Amino acid sequence: MSNSPGTLYGIGVGPGDPELITLKALRVLKQVPYIFAPGSTKNDYSLALNIVSRYLNQARIEYLPFPMTTDRDLLQAAWEQNARTVLRVLTSGQDAAFITIGDPLTYSTFGYLLRTVKNINPAIKVITIPGITSYHAAAARANIPLVEGDESFYLVSGAGGAARFREAIATTENMVMLKTYRYFGEIYQVLDELNLLDRALCISFCGLEGETIVQDLRTLKDKQMSYLSLIIIRKQSNRS
Ligand SMILES: C[S@@+](CC[C@H](N)C(=O)[O-])C[C@H]1O[C@@H](n2cnc3c(N)ncnc32)[C@H](O)[C@@H]1O
Repeated sequence: MSNSPGTLYGIGVGPGDPELITLKALRVLKQVPYIFAPGSTKNDYSLALNIVSRYLNQARIEYLPFPMTTDRDLLQAAWEQNARTVLRVLTSGQDAAFITIGDPLTYSTFGYLLRTVKNINPAIKVITIPGITSYHAAAARANIPLVEGDESFYLVSGAGGAARFREAIATTENMVMLKTYRYFGEIYQVLDELNLLDRALCISFCGLEGETIVQDLRTLKDKQMSYLSLIIIRKQSNRS
C-alpha cells in the first residue's frame, strides 16, 4: 500500500456514440484499477458505463447511487457517502475514475463529487478529462452551427420551466436546452407563442439506439419527452 493518495479522474465519456470519447479518456480508463459509475438508487443501470464497457480491462467497477430527489439534505447525505466511498480507494493509494455522460463539468454529477471530495480532503489530486457534450454531438448530427459571427449562445436547463426559458430566450440569438423532459409541454407553448417552433429542433438519444432528430416540433405537441432529449434553437435559421 502506497502512502500517497491516488488521483481522482473525472472522465466525460461523451453522450452515447462510443467513438465520441477522447484518447486521453480511453488511456486513463484502461489503466485505472477502480471505476465509479453513477447509478440511481432505483436501479444499477449506468449509461456512462454502457458507453465505455467495451474498452475496459480489469478495473473494479462500483456504482455510486444517488437519489432522484430535489431534497437538499438527502442529496447532500448521498454525496457525502459517495465521496467517502471514493476517498477510501484514493487513500489506499489507488487511482480511481468517475465516469459521466457528455462532459463532466456540464450539468454533471461529477461537479458534486469533486466538491465534496475536496471539502473532505483538499489534498486529493483531481484531474478532469473533458468530454463531448450532448449538444455538441447533437449539433453535429443535425449539421447545424451553434453560433456564428457575432451571435451569442445560451445553455439552459429545462428544469427551470417556461418562466426561465422565456427570460433566457429574450437575451440570446441561439439556445440549447438540456433536461427538457419534465416541462416540455409548457416550453412548447412558449416556443409557439414566440413563433419559434420553426426555429427549433429536438434530438433524443443522440448517438444511441432509437436516436431521433425532429425538425418539425409540431409533431411533438402533447408528446412525452424522454430524459435523453435536448432542444436547439436558432432564432435566425437553423436550416440551410
Ligand atoms: C444531467 S444532464 C448531462 C449533460 C452532459 N454532462 C453533457 O455534457 O451533455 C442530462 C441531459 O443531457 C442531455 N443529454 C445527455 N445525453 C444525451 C443524448 N445522448 N441525447 C440527447 N440528449 C442528451 C439531455 O437533455 C439530458 O436531460
